[in-house]
Amino acid sequence: MNNKITTLGGYIHEYQKSVSDPPAFWSTIAESFYWRKRFDKVLEWDFHKPEIKWFLNGKLNITENIFERNLFERQNQPAIIWEPNNPKDKEKVYTYGELYEEVKLFANMLLSKGIRKGDRVVIYLPMIPDLTIAMLACARIGAIHSVIFAGFSVQAVADRVKDAGAKMIITADSVYRGKKKTELKNIIDEALDNCDCESVKEVLVVKNTGEKVNFVEDRDIWLEDAKKGISADNRAEEMDSEDPLFILYTSGSTGKPKGLVHTTAGYMVFTSFSFKNIFQYSDGDVFFCTADIGWITGHSYIVYGPLLAGATTIMFEGSPTYPDAGRLWDIVDKYKVNQFYTAPTAIRALMGYGQKPFEGKALGSLKVLGTVGEPINEEAWHWYHDHVGKNRCPIVDTWWQTETGGIMISPLAGITPTKPSYATLPFPGIQPAILDKKGKEMNDNSVEGNLCIKYPWPGMARTVWGDHKRFKDTYFSTHKGYYFTGDGVKRDEDGYYRILGRVDDVINVSGHRLGTAEIENAINEHPLVVESAVVGYPHKVKGQGIYAFVFCQELSTGGIEGIKTSVRKGVDKIIGPIARPDEIRLVDGLPKTRSGKIMRRILRKIASGETDDFGDTTTLLDPDVVQRIIDNSCEKKYEVKEDKK
Ligand code: WT7
Repeated sequence: MNNKITTLGGYIHEYQKSVSDPPAFWSTIAESFYWRKRFDKVLEWDFHKPEIKWFLNGKLNITENIFERNLFERQNQPAIIWEPNNPKDKEKVYTYGELYEEVKLFANMLLSKGIRKGDRVVIYLPMIPDLTIAMLACARIGAIHSVIFAGFSVQAVADRVKDAGAKMIITADSVYRGKKKTELKNIIDEALDNCDCESVKEVLVVKNTGEKVNFVEDRDIWLEDAKKGISADNRAEEMDSEDPLFILYTSGSTGKPKGLVHTTAGYMVFTSFSFKNIFQYSDGDVFFCTADIGWITGHSYIVYGPLLAGATTIMFEGSPTYPDAGRLWDIVDKYKVNQFYTAPTAIRALMGYGQKPFEGKALGSLKVLGTVGEPINEEAWHWYHDHVGKNRCPIVDTWWQTETGGIMISPLAGITPTKPSYATLPFPGIQPAILDKKGKEMNDNSVEGNLCIKYPWPGMARTVWGDHKRFKDTYFSTHKGYYFTGDGVKRDEDGYYRILGRVDDVINVSGHRLGTAEIENAINEHPLVVESAVVGYPHKVKGQGIYAFVFCQELSTGGIEGIKTSVRKGVDKIIGPIARPDEIRLVDGLPKTRSGKIMRRILRKIASGETDDFGDTTTLLDPDVVQRIIDNSCEKKYEVKEDKK
């Protein structure tokens, strides 16, 4: 497979082709894959319904495109290099040949357990090789995987398992990341106790730490036992291009997470093609993406994109600061990493450790650096460029979303001239549009507005699992005939795109997307909380921090700090520590309009410390509440109440 753009002229030429005749463009790329039966039409679409179909009536299996298609050349080439949490433990390397055997065996095991094409399998595993093997095994037999990030806690897991109607859950006993332990099996037990997830018939447990766990009879089984006596002789299930490959949940502006559905052929073509071109991956290179596979970045650029392209991909179990802040650079040197892809939040966190972690690290193998997940500030961009890239590696600032399946706006490494904090230009096949408040598309340069996409691309999500109306309402209703991303964007005088951040009630904390409503719901579960409002505010390391304004009826024993601690603990338990508020302020009311809508605009300003001008506040029911929140007199009232107790 080639399809590689190598010059700026080539990019411009390919981009023009991709826009003037998209079906012809994508058809050529799709040709290089292995089809059991070739598709007979490239695209059918309607953004009003919405309905999007790519590579119609094609028959294929994505794992045949990873293994059977690559094996002749790559039998003994490392596919996955797994680096453990603790650097004293030994890494594991799977060649394409070895990974193929593991996947086939796992696939047969799933079949032996009655899992069939179309069944949903939840995978709640940390960054261990079984995670990737389980995903590919599902894909091999046509089961739809839904990976839940192992940092999510009980309620978040239960909601997702229930929504997906999962028949099986694959988890592990427990895991250490850094020094922190998470008892995954216990979380699954609690989630299943608390939701009526009758669909779940079996829980497969990977022995990871070997620590003792409870087993529920007739439901739980060790993976190693389940694999006993199973052969590795497996022929892949034949899938239609539009059969679902996986569901991945993400937060939206309402409380309930959405299960985005990605389908087989389009996702395959898009992740593989974007991977090779954006990172300029060449045969023999070693690619390292530090994301967790529980997020879309890991799905597309640790697992599917790289493996489809026949790449060597690193899977790192640990954290960037364990055992010290030089860990990522140790890994780069140990495996001679060529392309390195991480989040701005990790860069900002490492900046705080200064130069010491670089001592004795060569980093000479690096050719390309990437970032994803949130806007990268200029300071972090320069630090990354100077200290990690030693001024010789291009940075690709890649903008995309869970919904888009793959990278949408980004430089091609070393080809597109970069500008700090700009995602630069659209990838071939991507047609961005900037719409003003009235919904009018602005065609000039030097404009700012809502970022939309006006033409389909193969990697886009097709629906929200079980709720197509929500798919339409969320993405295709704000601007009719366009896919609306939820992001604000600026196009500068050169036509370069700079992402300005979310324009909805979604916040981006350390590159993780969280819905403010979801966090509010978790806070409101606290028995003393009447209501709450959550907003984002600028945070030095996380990009955005979580600020919660909480209205309580009375105080528990333990006073102000006690209540704040128990609110935080509640959020940890319900969603997970990623959603834990950084700041909590107790209030005696929230600024609401007469119709009862919370004016978050005002709270956002208070949280950011910008209290000089709130704009029009005449619609507020109780304008005084704003002043009381600012001078913190309501929290003081709580203190008084506390004294009386
Ligand atoms: C949101 C999507 C896609 C991988 C990880 C996040 C923000 C993503 C960038 C970037 C500025 C970015 C957007 C987007 N975002 N990449 N390069 N520059 N912002 O996936 O959880 O679906 O979140 O992340 O706001 O809408 P996600």
